[in-house]
Amino acid sequence: MIEFKNVSVNFKLDKKTFDAVNNVSFRINKGEIFGIAGSSGAGKSTLLRTVNLLQQITKGNVFVDGDNITCIKGNQLRILRRNIGMIFQHFNLAGNLTVYQNIAFVLKAAGKTKKETDSRVKELLDLVNLTEKINVYPSKLSGGEKQRVAIARALANDAKILLCDEPTSALDVETTSSILKLLKELNKKFEITIIIITHELDVIKSVCSRCAIMNKGDVVEIGDVYEIFTKPQHDFTRQLISHTFNFNLPDDIIENMQGPIIKLTFQGDNANNPILSYAANTFQIGFNILLGKVEYINDLPLGVIYVHLIGEEEVLKLAIEYLAENTANLEVLYNGI
Ligand SMILES: Nc1ncnc2c1ncn2[C@@H]1O[C@H](COP(=O)(O)OP(=O)(O)O)[C@@H](O)[C@H]1O
Ligand SMILES: [Mg+2]
Repeated sequence: MIEFKNVSVNFKLDKKTFDAVNNVSFRINKGEIFGIAGSSGAGKSTLLRTVNLLQQITKGNVFVDGDNITCIKGNQLRILRRNIGMIFQHFNLAGNLTVYQNIAFVLKAAGKTKKETDSRVKELLDLVNLTEKINVYPSKLSGGEKQRVAIARALANDAKILLCDEPTSALDVETTSSILKLLKELNKKFEITIIIITHELDVIKSVCSRCAIMNKGDVVEIGDVYEIFTKPQHDFTRQLISHTFNFNLPDDIIENMQGPIIKLTFQGDNANNPILSYAANTFQIGFNILLGKVEYINDLPLGVIYVHLIGEEEVLKLAIEYLAENTANLEVLYNGI
């Protein structure tokens, strides 16, 4: 439904050119919520803006619904943009217009009559749960409410694609989850394809089915969100997700330990099995959980625990072998055998 084929975007700075987006190729399926993550300056916004041609494409092609949109102009471009809504980190509402006027503006521009506009604005505000704010100015709205207005405006002309550039980066945790919930609902109800750019991996984890990881203009990894979080292939991805699951054990804890400290990663089926207590019983070892966390990504569990094992050298080796075979990953952090 959206396809990037060898897309590059160059900018000229001080007579030098640099690639903000460098030969990127991948597809986004119709009706999916797709995430693009990466640190600041990675080229995420630049890539996103090629989809509605707010950003010119230097090399390569972008296809939307099978049509090559790379060079379209005039009326074709207007139609493309009408079908693609966009929301931003700072909402981009017109401060001198009320909620009604902010949304009505784009409907009028698309040639809707006053009557059509009135009923559509009401319908949209109902959809984003903001009916009572219809005559309020943006300055009187909270961040979450502003983003709801922006979403209503983006979808006013029945957009089939919604581009979201850091949609929750200016919002607190609670408001973030309510906006993400709304995006999920809209995706389900209208089968809107949603692309979310973010530097917050929690956003990707909670709503996206697939994602791409960008670094310095390159897409370094792309795939199923659960796969990427459980088996990152690229160093940059590992770094990016490490803060989610890497805990630091205080040095003095490690120094005074007798016996090894291991880091176990559980995923899918093995996250639900009592593997650790089975190992303890079978091999007659003791264990002590030092740190742990279980998360759910697309309803699949991903868990990491740091465990101190206690026992005789021979059985510890067997237990570690068993655990390595029956978990997604085992890392010996400290070999105190
Ligand atoms: N219009 C522009 N002119 C020159 N450089 C730009 C322009 N837009 C973005 N850049 C640069 O391109 C790189 C990627 O920017 P951007 O796509 O905004 O990154 P991200 O959204 O991942 O933070 C950055 O180094 C940024 O400074
Ligand atoms: Mg950006």
